Amino acid sequence: IVLSIDPTIKAVEGYKLDVNDASIVIKGATAAGLFYGVQTLRQMLPSEHSHSDEVIVRGISIEDYPRFKYRGMHLDVSRHFYSVDYIKRFIDGLAHYKFNSFHWHLTDDQGWRIEIKKYPELTSKGAFRKFNGHDRNCLEQAKTDTIMYIQPELIKVVEGDTIYGGFYTQEDVKEIIRYAGQRNIQVIPEIDMPGHFSAAIQNYPYLSCAGKAGWQSVFSAPLCAGNERTYKFVEDVLSEVVDLFPAEYVHIGADEVQKDTWEKCKKCQGMIKKQGLHNEHDLQSYFVTRMEKFLNSKGKKVIGWDEILEGGMSNTATMMFWRGWMPDAPKQAVEQHNDVIMTPTSHCYYDYAYSSISTQRAYEWKIIPDNIKKEDEKYIIGGQANIWTEYIPNEVKADYMHLPRMIGMSEALWTSLEKKSWERFEIKLNQHYELLDEAGRFYHMEGYRNNSDRIVFTEAFTLNLPSLSANFSYKITSPDGKELIRPTTNFEPIEFTESGVISIQTFSKNGYKGPIQNIHIIKEQPWEAQKSSTSKLNCKVFLNQKFKTVEEVLEVQIGSGDLTMDTIAIPETAKGKNEFGLLYTGMIEVPQTGIYEFSSKCDDAGRLVINGQDIVNNLNGQWNITKTGQIALEKGAHPFTFIMFQGTGGSSIDLAYRLENSEYQPFSALIKKE
Ligand code: ACM
Ligand code: ZN
Repeated sequence: IVLSIDPTIKAVEGYKLDVNDASIVIKGATAAGLFYGVQTLRQMLPSEHSHSDEVIVRGISIEDYPRFKYRGMHLDVSRHFYSVDYIKRFIDGLAHYKFNSFHWHLTDDQGWRIEIKKYPELTSKGAFRKFNGHDRNCLEQAKTDTIMYIQPELIKVVEGDTIYGGFYTQEDVKEIIRYAGQRNIQVIPEIDMPGHFSAAIQNYPYLSCAGKAGWQSVFSAPLCAGNERTYKFVEDVLSEVVDLFPAEYVHIGADEVQKDTWEKCKKCQGMIKKQGLHNEHDLQSYFVTRMEKFLNSKGKKVIGWDEILEGGMSNTATMMFWRGWMPDAPKQAVEQHNDVIMTPTSHCYYDYAYSSISTQRAYEWKIIPDNIKKEDEKYIIGGQANIWTEYIPNEVKADYMHLPRMIGMSEALWTSLEKKSWERFEIKLNQHYELLDEAGRFYHMEGYRNNSDRIVFTEAFTLNLPSLSANFSYKITSPDGKELIRPTTNFEPIEFTESGVISIQTFSKNGYKGPIQNIHIIKEQPWEAQKSSTSKLNCKVFLNQKFKTVEEVLEVQIGSGDLTMDTIAIPETAKGKNEFGLLYTGMIEVPQTGIYEFSSKCDDAGRLVINGQDIVNNLNGQWNITKTGQIALEKGAHPFTFIMFQGTGGSSIDLAYRLENSEYQPFSALIKKE
């Protein structure tokens, strides 16, 4: 095996890998390139369990380089604390999949995790807490879900109080930076300010406007941005941070600042006057810009969450885009020629369930939004997934939440769009599960995923499941409660002739289980068509009401109006509104007797009911999943209702149908107009 530096390779992190019967040669323009060549070679080796004395490596010639220069993963260690050992394992995973940035969210309301010598109480007190609401929720879930435990070694009793937490000493931090550096990973510290700061304010109360820590209606009371003592404190903290971290960036957060205390604070109002600012938004901008200048003077660049755009952003800050419902923010930032790192909630929030952001979704993420002009694309320097940890109380769950979707995202960040193929990747993923097994990592197994809420048959339903590698099995529970274990390769189709629920779970040799997927199969004769032939499409609109479930929409009696519509879409009166529910009633007319399949994708959630039967359900939190459901219908008219609601972020409705296995058509084509 020959490793050599080759200055003719243009991409900084690029490499060439040649395997022939004489040698394995890896060349890189830099050590980083060599490192990535080695990772590719490692990924080509057979997994340990299939090792014999002889290891065969495929003959190959590769020239490879990344699509983006910033390839990051974030980890929130404030909501729950993870050991130095775990951080190293986390970094091992990043390195193996060619990430080069670890964004370490070190401080937040729930705990301060980095030792600051000048302010020792930040960690001696601020790194420990009595159990909070999230902790109690985790403990409650742990009674039935073994992966939700709180790590016992982090709990101690001090003077009769149970306290929970931990922090990294400056020596720990140096060790992690060294470890990451050997793996071509820069460690970017985030000290989140001026909001999300109450772990510090609790111990240094003069930092807030009211002289005490507090919780407002949505977020915690921020730092006082009118007090010079605040600036002294954060500059002291940042000075120690800068001395520790060699990375080119420091992340200063700046997200989710509720400015109510600033409105009432003499000092904040005084600062607004003194600096010639207009309002509290300007004050936030003043704070961020002042921090940026300070960090620039120390040779660092600044990253902030996308709120730094509000009130004006300096032209040198890097914006980390997260609010998926503000699609204009990245566009605006790149048009000002600011660098942008993409971490939208729609694809990158790995605290969300796999049912909402699947590995396939992570893989297929395009990263550059459609509204960015070609010439501005260069300002999108990369992307990152964020692991917020309110409900991730231990390291096993932390593994589960990012593996394997991080592997999917690694390819989105590295490989050019035209070379990506989910079908190819899905097959490869089986080998990565084996590598994760060998590395002792826990993970979510995508296994079999069913997006159909109702499957209909007249004689028999044939279950046919996709092939996985030999390390896995399917456990199938038939409607009569019988458990069948079947291999995942050479799966023999199984016939069912009665209605009921089939449960399917994939599990690996070492006992890891995928989620249980239920398939509702229904033996039914076509529903009789209705005689009455007049109808109209009615839409009841419930404005300014916050719904969390479809049931809540159905319970509402008084609407803001009844509309007659031509098609199912968000009516003008509701467009752009953030909180509403819709209840459509009407008739569809189907052209022939048969089994009809309906597909639906609704943001936030929706349900289609035909002949009183629930056909498709889009649940809240699964806004980006297309689901399907079937019903057997006689030629002619059938009543339907469609219920949806909007509570946060964007809103959309996408309904379609097809007969048997034909092409999908818009649902509106079936709607009877008179
Ligand atoms: C964030 O999720 N508050 C950046
Ligand atoms: Zn103030």
